[in-house]
Amino acid sequence: MQEFYAQKKQKELIDAARTARGKSYSPYSHFQVGAAILTKDGKIFTGCNIESSSFSPTNCAERTAVFKAVSEGIREFTAIAIVGAFENRPLTFVAPCGVCRQVLREFCDPDTFQILLAQEDYLTRSYSLEELLPEGFGPENFA
Ligand code: THU
Repeated sequence: MQEFYAQKKQKELIDAARTARGKSYSPYSHFQVGAAILTKDGKIFTGCNIESSSFSPTNCAERTAVFKAVSEGIREFTAIAIVGAFENRPLTFVAPCGVCRQVLREFCDPDTFQILLAQEDYLTRSYSLEELLPEGFGPENFA
């Protein structure tokens, strides 16, 4: 039953990321990314990549989702689903960039936080944050 719930939540998270991807503002790269982050109390915040004509202010989908949640007062997360591809192409596995990994490290437990990459037909790859950012520098270094 718990497994069924986890699967259902995983599908819901991927669907939310896919919907968010539809909002991607990416007129320069034409690479559209969507992300959906799951809070500890079961809520979902979504984000898309938002590009800029001067390039460097571009914000990735993952950071958009995290910043939306944090700006609403939520700082505890259990998982993130990420989907991406060039427009009008099938989804490819898109792993978070280094900057996004560091932002996730600020709020998420390296060992338990799950990073879920999804392609078409809910084909997934799953990693812990520690796997994608080993020996990361984080808030506890300031404690
Ligand atoms: N991008 C993301 O939104 N997330 C990633 O994990 C990788 C890259 C965006 C940034 C930029 O708008 C486009 O994809 C191409 O790099």
